[in-house]
Amino acid sequence: MTDIKVIGIDNGLTNYGDKDFARFLRRTFARSMGLSQDMLNKPIIGIAVTPSDFNSCHRYMDDLADAVCRGVLAAGALPRVFPTISLGEVFLNPTSMMFRNLMAMDTEEMIRAQPMDAVVLIGGCDKTVPAQLMGAVSAGLPAIQLVTGPMMTGRHKGQRLGACTDCRGFWGKYRAEEIDKEEIQQVEGRLSVTAGTCAVMGTASTMACIAEVLGMSLPGTAAIPAVHSARLLAGEESGKAAVALLKKPLKPADIITKESVENAFRLIMALGGSTNAIVHLTAIAGRLGIKVPMDRLNQISDETSVLVDLKPVGEGYMEDFYNAGGVGAVLRELKHLLHLDTKCIDGSTLRQRLEDPIEWVDRKVIRSFDDPVSKVGGLIALQGNLAPKGAIFKRAAATESLFETEGRAVVFENLEDLANRIDSPDLDVNADDILVLKNAGPKAAGMPEAGYLPIPKKLARAGVKDMVRISDARMSGTAFGTIVLHITPETAAGGPLGAVRNGDRIRLSVANKKIELLVSEEEIKQRLEDVAPLLQPKRGYSALYQRSVLQADEGCDFDFLVDADKKAL
Ligand code: FES
Repeated sequence: MTDIKVIGIDNGLTNYGDKDFARFLRRTFARSMGLSQDMLNKPIIGIAVTPSDFNSCHRYMDDLADAVCRGVLAAGALPRVFPTISLGEVFLNPTSMMFRNLMAMDTEEMIRAQPMDAVVLIGGCDKTVPAQLMGAVSAGLPAIQLVTGPMMTGRHKGQRLGACTDCRGFWGKYRAEEIDKEEIQQVEGRLSVTAGTCAVMGTASTMACIAEVLGMSLPGTAAIPAVHSARLLAGEESGKAAVALLKKPLKPADIITKESVENAFRLIMALGGSTNAIVHLTAIAGRLGIKVPMDRLNQISDETSVLVDLKPVGEGYMEDFYNAGGVGAVLRELKHLLHLDTKCIDGSTLRQRLEDPIEWVDRKVIRSFDDPVSKVGGLIALQGNLAPKGAIFKRAAATESLFETEGRAVVFENLEDLANRIDSPDLDVNADDILVLKNAGPKAAGMPEAGYLPIPKKLARAGVKDMVRISDARMSGTAFGTIVLHITPETAAGGPLGAVRNGDRIRLSVANKKIELLVSEEEIKQRLEDVAPLLQPKRGYSALYQRSVLQADEGCDFDFLVDADKKAL
């Protein structure tokens, strides 16, 4: 642990070549905000907020920031709210993933540049929590993550609905002409009915749970619904805890350790959590030089049962998870597998947290370790000649009868090709084929959530609900199906996916954790020589992104950010 100097408003003075003048000038402008000298002499807690009219998931952020301010003031420090960019998952083109690193840089630099002694980060939607944690790790100031919380469910003809597993379910029915246009429009207004993040165990919920198990959020806060009064109390407590942090020298690097990262991977498995969380956790840990190898990931997965019965893997919603006991109840079931000496930002260890039994657990939603939803973890890493550096497969959300499949490849060269041909009546495709999407990885396309390739319309109409689909893209944490994702290296980085041609045979084996192209190595090499190089964007962030983004096995972080941090270790 490292000492923390509390400096307050005089922290990091603006460079005028005269420190006393800089201090005087800063205080003069601070006084224009109506702050007394007494307030200006207190420690400062920065509160990073991310409201935006392009981010529905952050709709109540002002209330939450007020609650944090209350807690900070009550504990004797001065709260200062400041904005960073916000990433609303469905409002960004080409994909929010491209901007996660931009938000991480914004967060890091604004923490470092402005005068604060500790920071509370308020985020929620998929990319915002990983971006804030990456930024906070690199900034190195004491930090607490507070999430906005999940939304509540809606109703349609008596059926509970929550974004966004049900969005996909109903869209599938509409594509298969099981429901008409009028009904899909009704459903559109009933899927997302309150503020908050997606109502299922998608990426946002998984990342909220990860922040809690890592120790970066207060215990018990990950699953509180956005509109629940307890969410505001969590804000107030986070404010108080940030002030308390000034006396406990705990920085993110003291909290995020190899052990807490392994705990987080284990929790993802037990939650049946999002595939995206693997990329984000890898990026957060990567900032500290922590890497969990694929073999270890698979070992953790094989020894950790899925215990949580929530969509997209099971039936329930995040509001059920909260009422069932939340992250604390799951951790108690996993206790024998966890590293218990890891620390939380409130100074307690995980062992101390889990000492007392939880008052009540709804076993319909959070199963005991002896009675799991599934005996093995939700996600595994695959390897093979198609993915030399790995791929991710969400076995908990896949069709078991497709786990051992050998099929004919039906190839789409890129996202545009997919959009143009997937529903064509002329597409040569059968239910036992394997759909392949190329050029949707980090460098080629910013790694959009396009890995959930739609079932071709003619097959959907014939009743086909799932088939094997593979790509270098990601998929939404709320999606489901027999889908191989994050193939690494991606097509645009010279990966063998680029060599796949229509009619090739591909073999998926979940038992052997393999994904293979049944073409000779020589032929693959030959074909890769014919792959056209990627067009380089000429300017701005797109150019920086394509030049610097790492592959999925390194969390898609920027090389210059990771390398610099590793050197500092
Ligand atoms: Fe924001 Fe799902 S769209 S969490």
